[in-house]
Amino acid sequence: KVAEESTGKELASEAADAYIAMKQAAAADGVGLLLCSGYRTVEYQTNLFNNEKQEWLNKGLNEQEAYDKAKTVVAVPGYSEHNLGLAADIVAPDHQNLDEAFEKTAAFTWLDAHAAEYGFILRYPKGKEHITGYGWEPWHIRYVTRSLALYLTLTGLTLEEYYEQK
Ligand code: DAL
Ligand code: ZN
Repeated sequence: KVAEESTGKELASEAADAYIAMKQAAAADGVGLLLCSGYRTVEYQTNLFNNEKQEWLNKGLNEQEAYDKAKTVVAVPGYSEHNLGLAADIVAPDHQNLDEAFEKTAAFTWLDAHAAEYGFILRYPKGKEHITGYGWEPWHIRYVTRSLALYLTLTGLTLEEYYEQK
């Protein structure tokens, strides 16, 4: 379902509705949110992955090393939450790069405080890289329903830790 009218970017239906409500609430607080990447085809994920891997090859890593590095940044095609339509990469109108400096924006501060109310979690947090397998991605949120998002955010658990406990 289209979640961002201006770009036509899509999320799974329930996640799209949650994103639209969240964006409206942020706007009411004077904070702009933009959906930079939502649903991705596996084919598109393959391009992203190969580009990332190529960058590591260019830095002199061998095939296996480049593959292993790439998969801490971009999920292996078919294994991305973006392929499910449940992940959203969010940027701010004044900060459209997907980098760690996003953490310093009003958009991030707002998401950190309110995303869970709309069912989203910060999926790849700082300090949990060894658990999630990915670097810190302040821009990447995942829809998990409101009740689970509130639970995970209050307890500070990643999805991995939550499933491990169950
Ligand atoms: N960048 C995230 C991990 C993905 O490719 O799904
Ligand atoms: Zn993402």
